Amino acid sequence: MSKEIYLTGITTTGTPHLGNYVGAIKPAIEASKNKNNQCFYFLADYHALIKCQDPALVRQSRMEIAATWLALGLDVDTSVFYRQSDIPEIQELNWILSCVAAKGLLNRAHAYKALVAENETSGTKDPDKGITMGLFCYPVLMAADILMFNANKVPVGKDQIQHIEMTRDIAARFNHIYGEFFTLPEAQVEESAAVLSGLDGRKMSKSYNNTIPLFAPEKKLRKLIMKIKTNSLEPGEPKDHKTCTLFQIYSAFSSSSEVEKMRQQYADGIAWGEMKQTLFEKLNNELSAPRERYESLMEQPPRIEEILLAGRDQARARAKPLLEQLREAVGIA
Ligand code: TRP
Repeated sequence: MSKEIYLTGITTTGTPHLGNYVGAIKPAIEASKNKNNQCFYFLADYHALIKCQDPALVRQSRMEIAATWLALGLDVDTSVFYRQSDIPEIQELNWILSCVAAKGLLNRAHAYKALVAENETSGTKDPDKGITMGLFCYPVLMAADILMFNANKVPVGKDQIQHIEMTRDIAARFNHIYGEFFTLPEAQVEESAAVLSGLDGRKMSKSYNNTIPLFAPEKKLRKLIMKIKTNSLEPGEPKDHKTCTLFQIYSAFSSSSEVEKMRQQYADGIAWGEMKQTLFEKLNNELSAPRERYESLMEQPPRIEEILLAGRDQARARAKPLLEQLREAVGIA
């Protein structure tokens, strides 16, 4: 039986936080342990340039994200782990796909439309003000990432579903013109993966500045947890677990029997201070071993580099023959 090709990319902007871990990294590492899957996980550093024009930050984030996956136990002997920018074939495919992708399709991308709408409401004359070609063409590069390896399953968050649909559209168009080269990928949305709330109760997201870094040092972790917003109910007063950020984060890291017990403690009126301490201990327990590995990896950039270069070789060994066929198909070879 041929394996499912699982592929996903992580844009290398910012420091990984608890929300990234629970929503994306953890399920992806679990999927990589299934022998029926061949996983391709990569650092989408060219995508990062769309959002971030600070070279030091791009570099730093790329290291941090690579170290995070490795510290959490991604097995690079069975999964292919690489940097997008190390695979020149992806850029070449990007252009080939650009030449079949309809501009009208990209006009409909949510991210692009949202920026145009912002310009329009702010009364700016140019609806495309501040919008780069990189942002506009973002979905084509993403299609190249996916189609280069003929992935069939792409685990992503809900906000990325439209990009996978566009990838299918672009792939189908290419296949129609040049022959059946591409598999049409499917988005794999982890319905069960929790979307974590952040310090202020809104979705945990870098753009809200309300995140808890996954590998914050112990003291910092404790401090951040103590900052999570709660209501002013006193100890002994019953509390609603359903709307509580502390409870939600606790649940994402606990077994169902632990969650059940905690629900009872809420009904019994657990004090916020005690709950925060419990949550801190829970997280610190789960994260202290990978945090140590993370810190050690961050001190060994050459070790990370070596792993990424081995991943590059594996990825290119797959990409080159397909690109050769594609070049042939379009009449460039
Ligand atoms: N756009 C994705 C995100 O921001 C990252 C990404 C880039 C990606 N290329 C991809 C995800 C290919 C899946 C497949 O989350």
